[in-house]
Amino acid sequence: MSRSQKRFEAKFSKFSIYLLFSDDMLGSIIHTLVRRQTHIPINIVRPARLLTRSINNNLNLAISKKASSVAQINLKALSSTILPKNAPSPWQSTSSLSQLLSRRFYLSSKPSFFFSNKYNVSAISLKSPSPLSTTRALTVPTKPIVGYWLLSTAALVFGIVILGGLTRLTESGLSIVEWKPVTGVMLPLSEAQWQEEFEKYKQFPEYKLLNYEMDLSDFKYIYLMEWAHRIWGRVIGVAFLIPAVYFGARGYMSRTVMKKVVGLAGLLGFQGALGWYMVKSGLSEDLLSTPGAVPRVSHYRLAAHLGSAFLLYGGMLLTGLQVLRDAKVTNGTYDLSVSKTLMNSNLNAFRRFAIATAILVFVTSMSGALVAGLDAGLIYNEFPYMGKNIMPPRDELLSPEYIRKGESLPWRNFFDNPTTVQFDHRVLAMTTTGVISALWLYSRRLNLPIQARRAVNVLLGVVGLQATLGISTLIYMVPIELASAHQAGSLTLLTSALWLVHALKRIPVR
Ligand code: HEM
Repeated sequence: MSRSQKRFEAKFSKFSIYLLFSDDMLGSIIHTLVRRQTHIPINIVRPARLLTRSINNNLNLAISKKASSVAQINLKALSSTILPKNAPSPWQSTSSLSQLLSRRFYLSSKPSFFFSNKYNVSAISLKSPSPLSTTRALTVPTKPIVGYWLLSTAALVFGIVILGGLTRLTESGLSIVEWKPVTGVMLPLSEAQWQEEFEKYKQFPEYKLLNYEMDLSDFKYIYLMEWAHRIWGRVIGVAFLIPAVYFGARGYMSRTVMKKVVGLAGLLGFQGALGWYMVKSGLSEDLLSTPGAVPRVSHYRLAAHLGSAFLLYGGMLLTGLQVLRDAKVTNGTYDLSVSKTLMNSNLNAFRRFAIATAILVFVTSMSGALVAGLDAGLIYNEFPYMGKNIMPPRDELLSPEYIRKGESLPWRNFFDNPTTVQFDHRVLAMTTTGVISALWLYSRRLNLPIQARRAVNVLLGVVGLQATLGISTLIYMVPIELASAHQAGSLTLLTSALWLVHALKRIPVR
């Protein structure tokens, strides 16, 4: 038991009941007691923080976050003064006490009761009619370590996205032609094993069509890149699953956080499977019989693989930030003036705008993945023009060449035609830049908490950098360094947008 817990126990153990409520509720109770001339000893304790923290830590109760007052009422005195003679003891029946309190104090809603055996202390949370009453559903608060762990795994996902991009840019992704989740951890140990792996690679279209002049040392390089990518994926799996099971078993997570963690674990597994599904598309023998086919993975699967990595990253980031903020709220270190600012209805439209912006960043990133998957950054290497105009000719954008059998409309151009895909990415990127600039201008007119203000400023800076990197990547014809920085930029942009969304989130109130 920590020293503060001991102090708490020593100070408050003589009281058998604690009532937690907001100021106006407390006022109405005192008023009723005074009017009825009952002599119940009531101590009003401030700050509520101490009790909040202690109850949360010691009794596993999440209580009224904004309860600014705590009254301690001696239950024996309460029962002898106002309980009817034959009434069951309030210790025996929570519902009778609940009814009694509702009747005696004219409460609009029934109080809820929470008991703990450990300290023989009960907390009664009274729902106040005041909109400021913030009694939260009871739940085991999630420990901050869970938040730090989620943010660390998000950082690992950030890293693997960059490594995955480098694997693609160095054309290494198809070098390991098998999927062996366990034995695949081992690198070839002898020269003979390396040769064996090389021979397997030689059976596939990328070697036959593109790399037929490759020697063993070149092969080792691309193999090592892909191997590192896959190993990193396994490291993330272990770094996520083992602590998740441990934290779950030790009761470190609330039910809500637990559900989210299970969802993220599912997404992680799906991400691995999707990775192999993507690689398989680049190993298909059909590529050999298709004239002019380029041995590369399906751009749809590449975009799906990148998209699910972004979702995984976003989920870990938002959940981690939420856990850390909730921990601050429960231990009383969260600045309540921030939550007041966030409750202001003036922020509602801005909040929706920020969420829409984060979605737009995601969509633009997915269109970028299609550009990367089709190598569409190797055409029209100029900006803002594409050829003679800002927009390429209509018949090139909506070419009938991309209409598939049985289809009549040229919509496939938006996904399969490198010219259209690049054009879309430009339009979406410029829209994203414009929208973020508008968001920033809008933010100047609002009273924002400092974190949200910082996030929106960073967002504006990052989008400027990202657009510059995108244009440079295009003009210089996709050099590895710039393309990789542009990819890192997209995830940084998403991070800033999600940070803003998080910083604008209201503290849940009921
Ligand atoms: C402003 C927001 C932007 C976002 C969020 C964004 C996002 C992305 C993403 C996620 C990729 C895929 C990277 C990969 O998988 O390796 C990409 C690729 C690309 N983007 Fe952007 N982009 C933006 C702006 C731009 C601009 C303004 C241009 C140039 C006009 C541009 C040109 C490119 C090119 C050429 C690629 C392909 C690079 C490659 O093959 O690796 N981007 N973008």
